[in-house]
Amino acid sequence: MPRYLITSALPYANGPLHIGHIAGAYLPADIYTRYLKLKGVEAIHICGTDEHGVAITIKADKEGKTPKEIVDYYHQNIKESFDGLKIFFDNFSRTSKPLHHKLSQEFFIRIYEKGYIYKREIEQLYCLNCQRFLPDRYVEGTCPYCGNEKARGDQCEQCGRWLEPKDLINPKCTICGGVPVVKTSYHYYFKLKEFEKPLKDWLSTKTYWKENVLNQALSWVRDGLQDRAITRDLSWGVPVPLEEAKGKVLYVWFDAPIGYISSTIEWAEKNGKPEEWKKYWLDTETKIIHFIGKDNIIFHTLIWPAMLMAHGDYNLPDNVPANEFLNLMGAKLSTSRNWAIWIPDLLKEYPADYIRYGLAHVIPETKDSDFSIEEFHTRINSELVNNFGNFVNRTLSFIKNYMGRVPKDIEGFKDMDLEIIKDIEELPGKVGSYLQNFEFRKALKEIMAFSQKGNQYFDYKRPWSTRKTDYKETERTLYLCASMVKALSIVIEPYLPDSAVRIRKMLGISDLSLSWEDAGNWKFSKEVAPENVEILYKKIENKPISVGPELSTNQEKKEEKPMEYIKFEEFKKLELKIGEIISVEDIPGADKLYKLQVNLGDKIVELVAGLKTTYTKEELIHKKVPVLVNLEPKKVRGITSNGMILACDLDGKPVLLTPEKDVPPGSPIK
Ligand code: 2FM
Ligand code: ZN
Repeated sequence: MPRYLITSALPYANGPLHIGHIAGAYLPADIYTRYLKLKGVEAIHICGTDEHGVAITIKADKEGKTPKEIVDYYHQNIKESFDGLKIFFDNFSRTSKPLHHKLSQEFFIRIYEKGYIYKREIEQLYCLNCQRFLPDRYVEGTCPYCGNEKARGDQCEQCGRWLEPKDLINPKCTICGGVPVVKTSYHYYFKLKEFEKPLKDWLSTKTYWKENVLNQALSWVRDGLQDRAITRDLSWGVPVPLEEAKGKVLYVWFDAPIGYISSTIEWAEKNGKPEEWKKYWLDTETKIIHFIGKDNIIFHTLIWPAMLMAHGDYNLPDNVPANEFLNLMGAKLSTSRNWAIWIPDLLKEYPADYIRYGLAHVIPETKDSDFSIEEFHTRINSELVNNFGNFVNRTLSFIKNYMGRVPKDIEGFKDMDLEIIKDIEELPGKVGSYLQNFEFRKALKEIMAFSQKGNQYFDYKRPWSTRKTDYKETERTLYLCASMVKALSIVIEPYLPDSAVRIRKMLGISDLSLSWEDAGNWKFSKEVAPENVEILYKKIENKPISVGPELSTNQEKKEEKPMEYIKFEEFKKLELKIGEIISVEDIPGADKLYKLQVNLGDKIVELVAGLKTTYTKEELIHKKVPVLVNLEPKKVRGITSNGMILACDLDGKPVLLTPEKDVPPGSPIK
């Protein structure tokens, strides 16, 4: 068996993790590594936070923080989510560490000295308003290849192409919305074009890759590769290690993948064997597997391998089992549209194994998949609780209550017993071959079908009844059920590590360190007696899951207050109408308020509204808005306000609501 180095895409330390991240890369990588380790294969899982690039600086600008404050906060936040989900890394590092900076600079120098990097004058987009160059995410525009209007300066999320800001049609500064101008600067370019042929040859050996990954990579090489700028005019990042390049930093996608190596070196140092990393990066016996989402395919199948070829010392990836995207209830996950389920929220409500189970079923292995809250609940209740948990619990309770220990010296197996023995023997092989092939959903289905079979066997054999008539038969039944439980506790471990340990403890075999192959051995060689049998999983009632905005570093989510309900009778007392704003005046000394005249159809009323922070007078005239007309009149700044305009609150600022069709003033709102 070869040795494996498993990596998961280094997450940007600019926000918390959501379900899409977990299902797309980290959970499959964790399952895979746990499986290999159970097989006794030498394997490590390496990751860390990606702490450079404009993803970080934009977030810092937005929150009024320094980039360092942002990455410190989210490194911790992300780490806590991984710990909570039991996603295990042999090392979880940070690209802001000195070790990583040093290694990235050495990498640059090495390929610079080998002649693969050159300096070039270029025209760059510059925002006069913000007084800065606009690399990467600082600029948005239309993708010249697929027409996506929201393509970023470095990549189009829709078609996955690697772009340069000046490729964009109708570019706009993402900070101020201004139209940028072109200014000259110089940058360092990586001779990617020179690697077209070597990459093509290398890819042609990757016939065993996932089809989507290989096809994407091949189609890009066929289209032809271009040399790319690998430096940026930014103050945050790894400084370009050349005297002449003061003020420039490495492009984040140049230094980030080097993070896989620096994190491995850190792992070796932490373990007191500083040379150990070389086994993984220099010994060609090692297979390097990069788990990533599909937006990272180009970087891991072309650019990073080309960088590695240019460098010359390190192993190239063996496989890049990229996943597609996870949607949430039919719509694309989107941070800006508040459409995501955040891991810190989910962990407050559910044990890690429930979340892992729900997400493992929707890993977007071959196409985009969908997470629905309802389906998540159903899976937990009907699969984890009713199938898996039920089988484990009924087996262990029966043995504990009526037998005390797993029976010994059993013989005389017949009919369905023999079928079960065969199933047990074949289980690790079947599940294992799916896992080896990155077919995590099929492997899980296989495990659940096995547990379902256990329930059928238990029902068919009716031990509760044979116990009084044919005790030997009961012993045979429960022996095999216990053996199935043991097998389940092993093959489920990569998916549900907490459950695996709990089951083995309940079964009374916690002292045995089991390996993957032990799952197929249906015989117990030692005396085994179940202890402390407890319910493995509890049904979940229709618990709401919060879907919503990302938590910022500034606002910890407020404790949710219990809902205060009002009776319909009370609601009916509110008289709401559409009013048309017909006059707007300033109120001396008030910078947030306007005095308005509003036509309510049968009368015109005067009221005071706090709309000045969002709207000009011109914008308000003739707007039709909902008005609460029977609110008790109140004096504001000496003016009697006879009603209230209803608006949506966006970060403390009002945004008006207008009827979707033209309706006359005075129309009632019901
Ligand atoms: O897309 C992302 O979230 C990147 N931070 C992934 C980097 S993977 C690697 F190369 F470091
Ligand atoms: Zn595009």
